[in-house]
Order: sequence, then C-alpha cells, then structure tokens
Amino acid sequence: MTVFEHPWGTLVLHRWPRRRRETLQAWDNADRYLLDTLKARAKGATSLVVNDQQGALALGAMHHGPVQRSGDSFVADLACRKNREVNQLDGLPEPLWPFDTLPAPPDQVLMRVPKSLALLEWQLQWLSEQLPVGAPVWLAGMDKHLPRQLVPMMQQYLGNGRAELGWKKARLFSAEAPGERLAVAPYPTEVEGPMGPLTVHAGVFAQQQLDIGARFFLAHLPDSLPAGARVADLGCGNGVIGLALLQACPDSQLVFCDESWLALQSARDNVARYCPESASEFHLGDGLVGCDERFDLILLNPPFHDGYVVGDHVARRLFRQSKQALNAGGELRVIGNRHLSYHKLLGKLFGKVEVLGSNQKFVVWRCS
Ligand SMILES: C[S@@+](CC[C@H](N)C(=O)[O-])C[C@H]1O[C@@H](n2cnc3c(N)ncnc32)[C@H](O)[C@@H]1O
Repeated sequence: MTVFEHPWGTLVLHRWPRRRRETLQAWDNADRYLLDTLKARAKGATSLVVNDQQGALALGAMHHGPVQRSGDSFVADLACRKNREVNQLDGLPEPLWPFDTLPAPPDQVLMRVPKSLALLEWQLQWLSEQLPVGAPVWLAGMDKHLPRQLVPMMQQYLGNGRAELGWKKARLFSAEAPGERLAVAPYPTEVEGPMGPLTVHAGVFAQQQLDIGARFFLAHLPDSLPAGARVADLGCGNGVIGLALLQACPDSQLVFCDESWLALQSARDNVARYCPESASEFHLGDGLVGCDERFDLILLNPPFHDGYVVGDHVARRLFRQSKQALNAGGELRVIGNRHLSYHKLLGKLFGKVEVLGSNQKFVVWRCS
C-alpha cells in the first residue's frame, strides 16, 4: 500500500531506496498518531520533525505549516526528499544534522522514538537546549519498539513527561520543553581500539565496546598497499577499520563512508586524533552513491538491519555498489557472520571469492 491518509489529505509514499517486490509500508500508525495530535493540539504554525523515517511526518506536517526537520540518517533524509518529489510538494527545508542549531524556535515538536536509546537520550538533551520554554514535545512509536525507560528519560532531560492513550498499537508521549538544559547525556562514549580510545557519538554502532566482528576483521587487513592506494571504509561506524589500515599503510588515501551523521562525525574525530596528517575524506550517503571515486580496496563490515527490519538487503546493495566502484584488479574485503549466506551473492558478483580467515562466528572474504 502506498497511499497514506493524513488529517489534511493523502500522500503517496514509497520506501527508499526502492526495492523490487517491496513488502513494507513507508509509514506506520505512530506517524498518523503524531499528525492527528498536531491537527488537534497545535500551539502554533511551525513544527520541528525529528527522526522522520520516510517523509510521512515532515510531508504531512507541511500541510499544517512550516517545518524544520532533524535526524541522524542520510537514508531517511533521502527517502523524505524522494517522496517530496513524488508528491510534487514545495518548501521542504534542508535537514538539520545532530550538532546543528535550530534557525528559529518551533511552536511544537513531532518526534519518532529512535531505535537507539543513546540517540534518544542525546536528542532529548539537544531539545532541552534548543526549544523555548513550554513548547510541546510529542513523541510516538509502535508499542513493540518502545523502551521502558522512555518516560523516566523524558523526566530527566525535559523535567516532565507522560504516556498518553494508545491507538492502533502506537503510543504517544508528551512533555513541555524546560527552556534550558537539565541533564547532560553521557555521550560521546569511548571504546578501546587497537590504536587507543576511540570516540563514539550517541547511537553509533558498538557504543560501549569494539564489535567482536570488527576485532576479527582487524586481524585480516592488508599490512601493505601500493603508495597512494584508494581505500573505502564502507559503513565505517567509528572508523576503527579504516583507521587501522591507515596506520598500517600511511600512504593510502582513505574515504570513510556511512549513512549516519554521528557515525561519520565519530570517524572524523578519531582520524583527527590518530592520523591528523592524513588527507582522508568523509562521505555521508547511501553507501557509495554520490561518491564519484574508484577504489583499489573496499573494506566492509556490513549492517544486518535497516532500522527495525533485520535482513541482508542493505549488505547486498553495498556489495553491488562495491563491485561498480572497484578499479580493475581491485578488491572488496568483507566480514560476515557465518550463518549469513553472503558468500553466495558475493560468488555471483565477483570472479574470485576467497576465505581469508574464519572462526566459530565469522568469515572474512576477499572478493576480486
Ligand atoms: C556493522 S556496522 C560496522 C561499523 C564499523 N565499520 C565497525 O566495524 O565497527 C555497519 C555500519 O554501516 C552503516 N550503514 C548502514 N546502512 C548504510 C548505508 N546504506 N550506507 C552507508 N552506511 C550504512 C551503519 O550506520 C553502521 O555504522
């Protein structure tokens, strides 16, 4: 189903990037519940939309009045922009990324509860600093995804917060902004990497310790490359994989890529800390789309979920993009969980797929 009914009319919404035989909808009842709340209880014309998933919230709220939008995900922003085009709507503003300041105080906030509790906590602190006192903050999510700590966390960061009635398996929470910072969220954290402590901003993969897959991957990186080799750390998270390669091969040219703004910021901070002389680049995007480069080596510890949806579809997309972006003779090096059948797809895409190492949990492949 692609037609989303909201309080002011309808929108045609697709999930982006588009997939053949898509089975998932681009919105849920939490989006609808937030827009119904806006219609019934708006304090004024302007809204801030936080963590919109595919554009339902921002494109719906634009029918009420001007919208600002903020979130951490490039792919969510892309989906919103694509769905705006489909619906031929004008006036969608550029997104605000996590460290940005609001250009103007909104009258109310519509926020999806993010999957990461750390990101939620950090965003509540950000809202407490950015919003005028008394601005209504409405949060919603689907019952099955809501963290138990939500109301206590709202009370800690906003000074108040309550759960409201459920509606079709969605729930609304509300608070009023305190007009000042009441508590400091404990982010970024630091995790111990092979080069020393690494900065990890809120909600970034492996928040408290290095991922065990990443640790195994680190033991299977090349220890030399031709000078000037172009390397991508695809889905870089805090950047540990690319950084380790850069330390082993300081003459290589690294591009760190992620779709999470805070992941890329973590990688930036860590490169500045350990390899400040390097001429590394940072690409915020859906994998390598929009990164007009060719690589001699692509390193990938792929994501195994897309928001709440577990699966290998993002990994598959990144494999295909990697094949397109490699120089002749180039190599994709991938780590995967043993039970995932990555090797089948890699075998279809690449002429040669070798196992470089494996243990009870993981396999590292070299694809060329
Ligand atoms: C399993 S983590 C690996 C992080 C890091 N390389 C490591 O080994 O610790 C996968 C990373 O892929 C990123 N990611 C997910 N979807 C992506 C996409 N479409 N394009 C780029 N990066 C993506 C996630 O934000 C996450 O940082």
